[in-house]
Amino acid sequence: MKKEDIDITRLPVHVAIIMDGNGRWAQRQGKERVYGHKHGVDSVRAVTEAAAELGIKFLTLYAFSTENWNRPQAEIDALMSLLVQAIEHETPTLMKNNVRLLTIGDTERLPQNTRDRLMTCLEQTAGNTGLSLVLALSYSARWEITRAAQLIARDVVKGLVKEDDIDQTMLNSYMTTRDIPDPDLLIRTSGEQRISNFLLWQIAYSELYFTDLCWPEFQKEAFYDAIADYQTRERRYGKTSEQMK
Ligand code: IPE
Ligand code: IPE
Ligand code: MG
Repeated sequence: MKKEDIDITRLPVHVAIIMDGNGRWAQRQGKERVYGHKHGVDSVRAVTEAAAELGIKFLTLYAFSTENWNRPQAEIDALMSLLVQAIEHETPTLMKNNVRLLTIGDTERLPQNTRDRLMTCLEQTAGNTGLSLVLALSYSARWEITRAAQLIARDVVKGLVKEDDIDQTMLNSYMTTRDIPDPDLLIRTSGEQRISNFLLWQIAYSELYFTDLCWPEFQKEAFYDAIADYQTRERRYGKTSEQMK
């Protein structure tokens, strides 16, 4: 698929991606897993650029889950240093393309150095008005939902919130994604067909798209394929097809 094949009047507002398969892609070529992560950064660049060029408003990338902290320390270290490098290297491009960087997740757990560089980039791009690029770092949906419950309980104790005030809109305002619309399209690469603790609250009505391509293989054309597939879907939200006409 090419950019010209996309109907830009019917774009998803928010695309979320579970970037999976870096390790397997590398191992298939007899390389270390980290080689795959390095090439994964190129895919991040390509897909961010494609999303910005199309005029997509939000792109959320699942980069590191809370469960990924259980990987071998050497791989975690490599991922953190790649993250820092990528942020430093890409910030000028983000500025040039008017991209605002945001993060969701338990970023307190990130190494201090990683967190500092991340903060600098977040501040630097805060005024950009084009694509919002949301990095899910040390993120998991159950972490987020548990945290929301704690924050609400705290506000109830303080008398800021009454039990009857708790509805879906209110609960949503306690999620890390409170200023971000729900994903319209969720993509997962690498052939795995699972959610792996990503955005469970927010994907209630997202369209799901799975591809066998590993993340380092996922370039602009593959992204356009996913968008084109999304554009063939009828989103009914529980209603009948007739009602949607
Ligand atoms: C995705 O690739 C990147 C992260 C989860 C950090 P993986 O590292 O999970 O690669 P596979 O799935 O083992 O091939
Ligand atoms: C999901 O990939 C997390 C990210 C892409 C960051 P994993 O590779 O961690 O997921 P599982 O373990 O295969 O479910
Ligand atoms: Mg994986």
